[in-house]
Amino acid sequence: MIYLNGDFMPIEHARISVLDRGFIFGDGVYEVIPVYSRKPFRLVDHLLRLQHSLDGIRLQNPHSSEEWRTLLEQIVVRNESDDQYLYLHVTRGIARRDHAFPQGVVPTVFIMSNPLLAPPNGLLATGVAAITASDNRWLRCDIKAISLLPNVLLRQMAIDAGAMETVLLRDGFMTEGAASNIFVVKDGVLLAPPKNHLMLPGITYDVVLELAAGDNIPVEVRPIAEHEVRTADEILLTSSTREIMAVTRVDDKEVGRGKPGAMFALLYRLYQEYKATVMRAGTSAYP
Ligand code: PDD
Repeated sequence: MIYLNGDFMPIEHARISVLDRGFIFGDGVYEVIPVYSRKPFRLVDHLLRLQHSLDGIRLQNPHSSEEWRTLLEQIVVRNESDDQYLYLHVTRGIARRDHAFPQGVVPTVFIMSNPLLAPPNGLLATGVAAITASDNRWLRCDIKAISLLPNVLLRQMAIDAGAMETVLLRDGFMTEGAASNIFVVKDGVLLAPPKNHLMLPGITYDVVLELAAGDNIPVEVRPIAEHEVRTADEILLTSSTREIMAVTRVDDKEVGRGKPGAMFALLYRLYQEYKATVMRAGTSAYP
């Protein structure tokens, strides 16, 4: 069951106009929100980031936080899995094709849910392979825009090379993954790139930094040079749908010993414990 512009319906019944600016221009933004045991995880943070993205494209938020919360909860109860990931999408609406903003047009709002499957144990045990590529996206990667063509092409490069993710490099520094944030570990220190316009401010990234602070893990938030990626002891990938995974090969070279390392094991455990605490908390969402 999905939500489209005021109605709930089976996804097969959902229809939008070919003139929707999302279809014509990729003129919209989105969010991906994990749901564990039917509770949206970090909902407040996701809705704040949605507002940031809408502000970034100068589109008024069609709903208050309370309205979003209600709509998302409705989708959660109408879908089968206890663990889901919610995809919500807002476009500038339907108008005659013209690059300039249309006047008086109602935004299109779409929400769907898919089962959220934990990364398979095999991949958690071995870690995943990544390749590197030049980050050829625009300069507002902090906006979660639906126009994802560069990300699609960059991620497919990884798949074509038998890898799972593409680590992006811009001007000699690592920005993020094609669909994830990336951390580097060196000599026991967790290195994170600073949030700026060159990367998506990941919600999972924030959780990882909070968990690290709570466990007195040494952290440095600073630009990470390409050579630090290539000589890392460990590399970690984070996203709402993949949680935390170890990257154990980069461009066909082993990362550290080529196996998930101690920092991954620690943060993975802390993340699972944190999730369990949130789920037990009895509220419909965190916080
Ligand atoms: N993508 N960077 C990019 C470019 C991403 O697309 C994502 C997530 C992240 C991680 O952000 P978060 O921890 O908030 O999920 C970073 C989602 C999952 C997607 O597009 O499906």
